[in-house]
Formats: sequence, C-alpha cells, structure tokens
Amino acid sequence: MTEQLQCPLCAQSEAFTLIPHLRAEHKIEPDVFRQRFPEQPLATAAFIESLARHDVCKRDDVLHYQLSVAGCPMIARFGVEHPLIPEPDPTFVWTEPARDVAEAIEHNERVFLYGPSGTGKSSLVRQIGATVKRPVRRVSLNGETSVADFIGHWTVNADRQTVFVAGLLPQAMQAGHILQLDEVDAMQPEVGFILQQVLEPGGHLLLTDIGEDIAPHPDFRLVATANTLGFGSDSGLYASGTNVLNFSWLDRWDVVVHIDYLPADQEAGLLHARHRTLDPALLKCMVAAAGDLRKAHAAEELTTVLTTRRLLALCARLERGNNFGRALGVCVLNKVPDEDRKVIAETFDHHVGPSA
Ligand SMILES: Nc1ncnc2c1ncn2[C@@H]1O[C@H](COP(=O)(O)OP(=O)(O)O)[C@@H](O)[C@H]1O
Ligand SMILES: [Mg+2]
Repeated sequence: MTEQLQCPLCAQSEAFTLIPHLRAEHKIEPDVFRQRFPEQPLATAAFIESLARHDVCKRDDVLHYQLSVAGCPMIARFGVEHPLIPEPDPTFVWTEPARDVAEAIEHNERVFLYGPSGTGKSSLVRQIGATVKRPVRRVSLNGETSVADFIGHWTVNADRQTVFVAGLLPQAMQAGHILQLDEVDAMQPEVGFILQQVLEPGGHLLLTDIGEDIAPHPDFRLVATANTLGFGSDSGLYASGTNVLNFSWLDRWDVVVHIDYLPADQEAGLLHARHRTLDPALLKCMVAAAGDLRKAHAAEELTTVLTTRRLLALCARLERGNNFGRALGVCVLNKVPDEDRKVIAETFDHHVGPSA
C-alpha cells in the first residue's frame, strides 16, 4: 500500500500529507492550495481515516489526539514541549491499577495512590504525564517542602519591597499542571487543612495573606501518593482519635487506588529490560527471593521489605561485574536491622545460590 502523494508544484513525493511540505517549501497554506488545485487531495485516505479514529483536533493551536493509556482512553497533546513534562520510560510496566489512575487524571478526579514503598506510585503518575504530554509538578510532603514553599510566603525583592511569592500549590493550580503530592501520610496538619478546600470539586484556594482567590485551571489535577491510608498505619482509617479527622480528609479524594508490587513475571521483565546483560534465569530467582521476603514481611517475620527499587540497585551493581554476595551486602543487607539480615541472606542463598 503506498501512502505517498505527489506535490503538483515540484513533483516531490510526500508520505501521508502534503501540508508540511507546502508550508516549508512553497510557503502555501492549505486553503490557498485548495483553491488552486481543487482536484488534488492534501492527505491520503488512510491518513484522514486515522485522524478521525484518533479524534485529532486542534485546540489553542495544539493538536490533541486520543490514545490508550493502560487501556484507558486519554486525550494527549502532540509535540508540546515543557520543562515539567516527564521523560517517557520505555521500560515502564503498565498494570491494571494504572488504568484507574489514568481514568482519574483524564476525568479530573482527585486520586490517592497508596501501597508499599518502591512499587512505582510516583513513577506511574510521571509516566502518565509523559504519555499524554502534560506537565507534572512533584512535591514531597515529608518535610522536604516547607509550608511556605507550598502555599507562598512574603519576601523582600531586589527593590526592597515586601512582596508575596505564590507557592507550588497556587502555581500548579493556575498553570494547569498535574500536582503530585508525594508521601502525604507524612505531611504537616497545616498542609492538610489547606488542601481540604482545594479538594472540593472545582475547589478554589484562598490565599489569606493577600486576600486572593485562586481558581483552578481546567487542566489542574491533584494526585497524592502514600504508603498507608491512615496517618501512620493501614488501620488508621478506622481508629479513633485524630484518625477520624483523617478519614474526613481522605473522604474528599474521589478515587483511592492500591498499588502493589508487580507480579513476579512482570517484575523480572522490568529487571531484564533495564539490565539486558544479566542472565534472565538469575533475575527470576532474585524476584522469587523478593516474593518470599515480602510474604515474610506481611507475616511480620521481617521488619523491612525488599522493594523493586532495591532489586534494581542490586542489578546495577551486578551488571558492573560485582559478585553477588558483595552487591547484596551493600545494596540490601547493610540497610536492614541485624534481625532481618540473616533471613534475607538465607532467602537469597536458597533461591539464587546455584545460579549466582
Ligand atoms: N511498574 C513499574 N515499571 C517500571 N519501573 C518501576 C515500576 N514500579 C517501580 N518501578 C521502579 O522502581 C523504582 C521505585 O519507583 P517509585 O515510583 O519511586 O516507587 P514509589 O513511589 O511507590 O515509592 C523506580 O526506579 C521505578 O522506575
Ligand atoms: Mg514515591
């Protein structure tokens, strides 16, 4: 099937559409061309059909098109550039819960992701942003970002005037970014109270310092990630005392998605995609060991848990030619309390021993 068109002005052959060629080479816009060559198609039938299938349309001078993100239809922007649009990671593994998160972002639902550390919660939000080309602003609420940086603060500028500098929250609301709040289970109560108003559907933010009301841009999205649902423990949701307040706070999130470790075959696939030189059989054994250790952690036989992040760090060391025992020592064993060390070493010995 040829998807070529010939330019009637210079006889050059072009794929799919003549429009970019006409603009670049002949400085002719499509409507002028149509008047001069009413019989000449500007694009192939297949190209026009594909534009319709992907719902391609122009909004604010940007081409928008439909694509599937983890099985959820989303509208992506074509060819936009912005320093906050994340880099796509071709090794990223899309799982079932990713679909729920994609749907929430597409339809402006406030979404709360929770699950064990290193399960790809933060990466998931960034990869959705990378796929649909939307800027993602990440804020870590575990003390890394102060309340003043988050909401705004007074400062003295170069002209010695006292001015209010808007923080990350009002900036993201006005610019229409995806605001990713990492580790909200560790945030200060002040931040929780402020977020409460923004979490309302179409919720505004009142900057009391300057009496300004910040309305959310239609593209503004709010995503939270946390290790636990309650503040401190998984059962916090039902505990009495301060956690009751947390329930009312949590209740304002439209959607809560649990992100767990990748299924073993997908986790081994990820390690393989990132570390091509390592033996896939060894990677499978490492994932099996990690699976056992996660079960032991769930049964409270182990205080720490082996994350995907740890496995990736271990692979990086192995790929540089380090021996397994040494790599395991510096990447895993030296990080954990004494009582865990023996169990972890034995579990790896059991699964990996022969192939390492
Ligand atoms: N589904 C996945 N696909 C690709 N990489 C993943 C996935 N899940 C976790 N990772 C990798 O594991 C590491 C930790 O992920 P991160 O998003 O920081 O986890 P979390 O926010 O849940 O603590 C990163 O290197 C990330 O790329
Ligand atoms: Mg994270």
